[in-house]
Amino acid sequence: MPKTLSKVRIFADRDTACRSLAADLARQIASINEQGRNAVLGLATGNTPLPFYKELVRLHREEDLSFARVTTFNLDEYLGLTRDHPESYWSFMHDKLFDHIDIPAGNVHIPSGQPEDIESHCADYEQAIRDAGGIDFQLLGIGRTGHIGFNEPGSPRESRTRRIELDPVTRQDAAPAFDGLENVPTHAITMGCGTILEARRIGLLAFGQKKASIVREAIEGPITAEVSASFLQDHPDAAFYLDREAAGEL
Ligand code: GLP
Repeated sequence: MPKTLSKVRIFADRDTACRSLAADLARQIASINEQGRNAVLGLATGNTPLPFYKELVRLHREEDLSFARVTTFNLDEYLGLTRDHPESYWSFMHDKLFDHIDIPAGNVHIPSGQPEDIESHCADYEQAIRDAGGIDFQLLGIGRTGHIGFNEPGSPRESRTRRIELDPVTRQDAAPAFDGLENVPTHAITMGCGTILEARRIGLLAFGQKKASIVREAIEGPITAEVSASFLQDHPDAAFYLDREAAGEL
């Protein structure tokens, strides 16, 4: 019996999980737009959400889902990368989603990989989220260290958007994409755990056997800064969307 408030939803495969979450999100965007305001989404990168973004693009093209009244905030960005670096999260988000939907460019927010002043950039990012009215729906993946965004082990529950040193495991996982560990940035800017937990609704996607043990720790283990995803356990509206492999150790 899970001792958590967070919901766990197990699907036959990743495409089915992503279609379900995308359909939920489309309904949420429509109902918020009906209230006369923009829907504010927190977005994530990585391989995991790719089928989810593909489904959002399909819903836009084939089923009239509009992002004209959507505002987005990405979780994180590697420090040191220019926007046009192929591995920047700016490039990722434009290639996979923003270039294929009708979101106004001014509604997109991604932390800069090359801010002039890191502290004021982070404070401005937090302020922009508040000015938008807070995040309605936050999408998350999970790293093998249990991180959400880049909130590596030791990230306090109250942490806000800030510079963080990447864990060796996280850098190792990114090495193939960067053509070698030596090319992987050592630091990033990430929304904090506190920033993420203020989202009104949260959906975490995790797929594949490689994520099974950290998914178990996040859902069934102690709530601890050593596994930042464990903070979702007592969020009032957080759900884990898993395939059978990722749920294999629950
Ligand atoms: C990076 C991102 C996370 C993501 C994680 C897992 O660390 N900053 O947001 O959840 O990778 O990536 P993947 O989905 O490729 O396993």
